[in-house]
Amino acid sequence: MQPVEIKPGIYWVGIVDWNLRDFHGYAQTQHGTTYNAYLVIDDKVTLFDTVEQKYCEDFLCQIGQIIDPEKIDYIVVNHTEPDHGSSLPNVVHRVNPEKILTSKMGKEFMVGRYHPENWSIETVSDGQSVSLGKRSVTFMETRMLHWPDSMVSYIPEEKLLISQDAFGQNIASSERFDDWISWEDLKQEMAQYFANIILPYSPKVKKTLEQIQNAGLEIDTIAPDHGLILQNNIQNAIGAYLEFAAQKPREKAVIFYDTMWETTKKMAEAIGSGLSREGISVKIYSLKKWHHSDVMSEIWDAGAIIAGSPTHNNGIMPLVADMLVYMKGLRPKNKLGFSFGSYGWSGEAHKHISNWLEEMGIELADDPHGVKHVPTHEQYQELAQKGAKIAQAIKQKVQNS
Ligand code: FEO
Repeated sequence: MQPVEIKPGIYWVGIVDWNLRDFHGYAQTQHGTTYNAYLVIDDKVTLFDTVEQKYCEDFLCQIGQIIDPEKIDYIVVNHTEPDHGSSLPNVVHRVNPEKILTSKMGKEFMVGRYHPENWSIETVSDGQSVSLGKRSVTFMETRMLHWPDSMVSYIPEEKLLISQDAFGQNIASSERFDDWISWEDLKQEMAQYFANIILPYSPKVKKTLEQIQNAGLEIDTIAPDHGLILQNNIQNAIGAYLEFAAQKPREKAVIFYDTMWETTKKMAEAIGSGLSREGISVKIYSLKKWHHSDVMSEIWDAGAIIAGSPTHNNGIMPLVADMLVYMKGLRPKNKLGFSFGSYGWSGEAHKHISNWLEEMGIELADDPHGVKHVPTHEQYQELAQKGAKIAQAIKQKVQNS
């Protein structure tokens, strides 16, 4: 890998992880990722963020192509999560920086995670500026976006925002900038990242972006810690984040289910046919085939979440429980909900799912619907009618939102 000069004297010195599929142990990426870090050559040579520990040697080699790592004066830690911070012990040992600049919570997390000994950690506060020589850097705390330690770094002389996880995308590529990819594809990747990492903090996103806009910051480059550096799509990206955070429902339904003998699968398809007959866009996911993070990537703008499980041992199928637990943590808003499932005798699963949805604050579009044994032709027709009824409720919700 080669460092890339993103502005005169400012370099991307990150790592491309082409083969990553398991992101943080809970989300999947189809396109790998990158761990971006940035090196500013100024009177105070400053490194912004580091990389995952297993890439530490490659990372130091990247830096070494520009400058002896020991010449780094400051290390800025915008976020301590291991994909950006786990190489810190080795990097600090090698660099011996004059200062490590981080937020108050960043220091607490660094101490707890990396057990520093004799590191010169200096906490910075929201809005504080530090001179690097010809340039300065202003720190903005973005607490809970998406960890308590999170902050971003703004270099006004360069109109450069180093945004840590914000605006990130899981894209491994040889290209560093957003000029080779269509906005639609880039937005899709940003949405996937947002839906699985940042969604619970949507209200905070809106407030933070408003603060940035009100502060009148001039930005011509957003350099996130994952994926492509944004130059062509800055306003698009800010608009997309506001859109993701608003979770405004569309005329779209996401159906997910697990099945034993394919009856609940057929029920899902019958409901889906009723929805699509009424012009609602439908995505149907078998949880045996799709990872929960793939499903979640489609939920943020859906008008309805429809979940199905056959009854198994008086409960719901494990994969459906997994999906519901995952979704609950991500706190989707502005959705209608509906549950269904087949059963042989006791018939609890669809009722359990309905309770879960209600607990998440999801408004139920109809009562849970169970079918004993295998539906008849008429019962499948009834399920399609349920779909059509939910379609009308979605349209109403979209109109009112
Ligand atoms: Fe990319 Fe929250 O770490």
